[in-house]
Amino acid sequence: MTHRTLSPGRLIAATHNKGKVRELKDLFEPLGLEVVSAIDLDLPEPEETESSFAGNALLKARAAAEKTGAPALSDDSGLSVTLLNGAPGIYSARWAGDPRDFGVAMARVEQELQAAGNSDRSAKFVCALAMVWPDGHEEVFEGEVHGELVWPPRGDRGFGYDPIFVADGETITFGEMDPDRKHAMSHRADAFRKLKAALLP
Ligand code: IMP
Repeated sequence: MTHRTLSPGRLIAATHNKGKVRELKDLFEPLGLEVVSAIDLDLPEPEETESSFAGNALLKARAAAEKTGAPALSDDSGLSVTLLNGAPGIYSARWAGDPRDFGVAMARVEQELQAAGNSDRSAKFVCALAMVWPDGHEEVFEGEVHGELVWPPRGDRGFGYDPIFVADGETITFGEMDPDRKHAMSHRADAFRKLKAALLP
């Protein structure tokens, strides 16, 4: 596939998640891009109807590029547990219920691991970053970080499932880790490195 160079200018962060907007601004603004979020523009939040991280990321970026006429970037991510055949996967946010409670979501992961025999506690975080231009050109980059799940949860830094995830080669959870250190090894960092190598030569 021929990659397209991302030129300086406006980039829509196609997400309503403030944490993701912050991270995308930190990553893209030093590269000369003006990051404007779906929150700033009051864009509608499309329903995530696809069955993969990449599919859902593309759906969100397409909707934002069509509405604004500017290139749009979105992130879809989650936790994939080996023994649970990849669950919660694209349902990672939904397992936390409404309003979101990741204590509930983490307890469900542990409960389902025990019910499945607890013979394998490996898991990975996955991130798909989708970039869509208003003329329909689109590219997706996927990143992963592999690790093991621990119980009980440890640490109050980070978010989501961070307190039960220990990356391979580490002894502390993402919830206990200095955020800069997590951001250097995370699934999002991995996807971003691939995006940068392809689109910002
Ligand atoms: P999305 O907004 O549909 O992409 O949902 C992503 C969900 O996956 C989040 O709400 C978190 O539960 C989980 N998730 C994604 N990335 C991370 C991470 O870095 N740490 C912990 N949980 C994460």
